[in-house]
Amino acid sequence: MAVTLGFDVYGTLIDTHGVVTSLQILIGAKAQDFSQTWRDKQLEYSFRRGLMQNYVNFASCTRHALDYTCAYYRVDLSSKQRDSLLELYSVLPAFGDVKEALLQLKSSEFRLFAFSNGSADALEELLTSAGIRDCFLGVVSVDDLKSFKPNPGVYSHFLRKAGATGQSSWLISSNPFDVIGAISAGMKSAWVQRSAEAIFDPWEIKPTLIVNRLTELSQQITEWEASQS
Ligand code: 2OP
Repeated sequence: MAVTLGFDVYGTLIDTHGVVTSLQILIGAKAQDFSQTWRDKQLEYSFRRGLMQNYVNFASCTRHALDYTCAYYRVDLSSKQRDSLLELYSVLPAFGDVKEALLQLKSSEFRLFAFSNGSADALEELLTSAGIRDCFLGVVSVDDLKSFKPNPGVYSHFLRKAGATGQSSWLISSNPFDVIGAISAGMKSAWVQRSAEAIFDPWEIKPTLIVNRLTELSQQITEWEASQS
């Protein structure tokens, strides 16, 4: 059976800190910390919305997190400046290794899907502007379910939409909470540890594989699958 790969988008394929250069122009030296707090809050809001069953889409979590971050750093950005930051967020760049890795995996007969908290429209725009939309057989959004990762239901939804089973599927993610969520829901998962400083949550659930770059995936997953047969 062909192996299905579901790629997390924000933080794995797409660099959520791609707004830092524009932030530097607006707020100077705080830009890097601001960007990290913005991202952390965006995810926290998605977790809380999911638990509360009080869904708003991921773009709304991103907007609310931006407003929180401005208040936290006492940065007075106008609504026009906030809108232009959010517009930039919809066309963030892909990491440098992404295109090469996806093309390599596609030519090795892996079935590639994007699978994300983002809504379908936002994902289409983002992946198209990053020049990687055509690498995927499909784009699966948690928005169909009105919940967020790591609700186990969204991983089951991914498998149904991709026409795959947990046994034949991998989630590929740089986000430890996503890797743990996928494995807990019955998939395999590769953690993309892009920097030596990135920490995996010290839980009882470990990644099936760890790679440092997406270009390592094809060989590592092929070897892992062969070792099981
Ligand atoms: C995504 O679903 C979790 O941000 C991550 O794209």
